[in-house]
Amino acid sequence: MARKIFIAGNWKMNKTAAEAKALCEELKASCAQFGDKVEIAVCPTFTSLTTAVEVLKGSNIKVGAQNIHWADNGAFTGEISGAMLQEIGVEYVIIGHSERRQYFGETDETVNKRIMAALKYNLKPIVCIGETLEERENGTTNAVLDKQIKGAFAGVSADDMLKITVAYEPVWAIGTGKTATPEMAQETHEFIRKTLTDLYGAEVAEKITVQYGGSMKDSNSKELTAQKDIDGGLIGGAALKADSFTALIANTL
Ligand code: 13P
Repeated sequence: MARKIFIAGNWKMNKTAAEAKALCEELKASCAQFGDKVEIAVCPTFTSLTTAVEVLKGSNIKVGAQNIHWADNGAFTGEISGAMLQEIGVEYVIIGHSERRQYFGETDETVNKRIMAALKYNLKPIVCIGETLEERENGTTNAVLDKQIKGAFAGVSADDMLKITVAYEPVWAIGTGKTATPEMAQETHEFIRKTLTDLYGAEVAEKITVQYGGSMKDSNSKELTAQKDIDGGLIGGAALKADSFTALIANTL
C-alpha cells in the first residue's frame, strides 16, 4: 500500500492565540476539499494549542505540539509534559528540530527520551534529523544521519516505529530559500529508509512516513513529493498563511 502524503505546518514561534485561531479557521475551510486524501497537521505554539484543537475539531486537520518533556511532571521550569498535551487533545509532537538542537542543547539522547515520553502518552512523534552545510560539504551527511537515527530510535520497538514520522530537514535549507533538489533529497531519503530497513526490516521501513523539510513551498512541493521516498513535508514559512499552505498541499495531490 502506498504511503499517504503527510504535510505538517511547523509554526515555530509565530502567531498569538488570536492569530492562530484566525489561521485555523481559514485552513479548516480551505483544506476541507482534500478530505482524507492527505494527512494534514498544524503545530502552533503551546499557548495556541487549545484554541487550535477546538477550532479544528471535526476537520481533516490534526494538531501537534513543537516539544515535549520526558518527565511526567516536576521541577522542569518552562517545559510541558506528555500528560498535559494528551489532555487537551493534541495528536502529534515535533521532536528534535534542528533549531532546538542548535539553540537549546537538544541531543540525540534527549530526543530519544522525548520520543519515549510521547509514545507513553499516545502522541505521534515527528522526529527531525538533518545535516548542517558544513557536514554536507565535508561529505559526512550519511554518517550524521545514521548517528541521529540510531540515537533517536534506540529502544523503540518496530510497533512503536510505525507511529513515528521522520522529518529530514537539511539545516542549510531551513528558512534560507535553498531547497535540496528533488534528486538530492531523494538520495538522502533513500539512505534514511535503508538505515530504517537495517534496523527494523523492509516491511516496517516501507510503511514509515519520511517528510522533507526546508524551504518547501507550493512551487516545489509537487516535484519533491513525486520522489519515491519523499512522503510529504514539514513546512515552516509557507505554513504561516492559509493560501500558501493550501496551495502547497494541493500541488502534492
Ligand atoms: P522553512 O519551510 O521555513 O524552511 O522551515 C522548515 C522547517 O524548519 C520546518 O520544521
